[in-house]
Amino acid sequence: MKQKVYLYRAFERFWHWSQALIIFFLALSGFEIHGSFSFLGYQSAVKYHNMAAYALVILIIFAIFWHLATGEWKQYVPTAKNIKAQINYYLLGIFKNAPHPTRKTVLSKLNPLQRLVYLGFKILIIPTMVLSGLLYMFYRYPQNGSIEGLNIESIKTIALFHTAGAFILVAFVIVHLYLITTGTTITSNLKAMVTGYEELEDTTKSQLESKNEVISAEVNNE
Ligand code: HEM
Repeated sequence: MKQKVYLYRAFERFWHWSQALIIFFLALSGFEIHGSFSFLGYQSAVKYHNMAAYALVILIIFAIFWHLATGEWKQYVPTAKNIKAQINYYLLGIFKNAPHPTRKTVLSKLNPLQRLVYLGFKILIIPTMVLSGLLYMFYRYPQNGSIEGLNIESIKTIALFHTAGAFILVAFVIVHLYLITTGTTITSNLKAMVTGYEELEDTTKSQLESKNEVISAEVNNE
């Protein structure tokens, strides 16, 4: 039996969509700075990239607070259980209409692969982008709090980390957009992140029901 479950709270949805928008804009302006194309003009791209970067930092501070205050950080604790099954599902099972190997619940919204990848972004990629971005900002334009003391040999290293992170983020967004469509229906994941609600299998009920079926079958056999 399916049941409508409130999966994503208001702040979580606000955080998700504003983060998506800001990162999309940072990628757009960043790759213009990189020289990949011309859209806003170099000067404006730098100006708006810096403004969006500050917006992202503020959003991240609020998101960290929200994760700690609500205990939702626990959703990202990695687990090895079912990880192979999840990989097999995406590589093979999905093309054969196999069932999802893991069930979404309020207490475990992320499958084991999502847990691992999202955690990696939270503790590795995003900090790399923020740190290299801030170093880029203040190394490039040393102000009062000049960080020459860190003895950074060249801006090249910073640019390399920042650009590599940007490519990883863009790759993530592409894969993410595909995976959004692989829920119970093609739009169920997207709808859930917009409305907060998703139709999920009621595990306790269905387990009870299947137990009852076994019991009634046994009774009938007697
Ligand atoms: C808080 C986060 C961030 C900060 C503080 C930041 C800051 C900066 C700064 C100061 C620059 C150099 C601008 C110049 O040359 O004058 C830059 C370049 C760039 N940024 Fe960011 N950025 C951040 C996040 C991002 C994100 C999330 C992306 C991509 C998704 C991104 C992509 C790029 C790219 C591709 C470049 C050009 C790198 C190069 O060619 O050397 N940035 N960023």
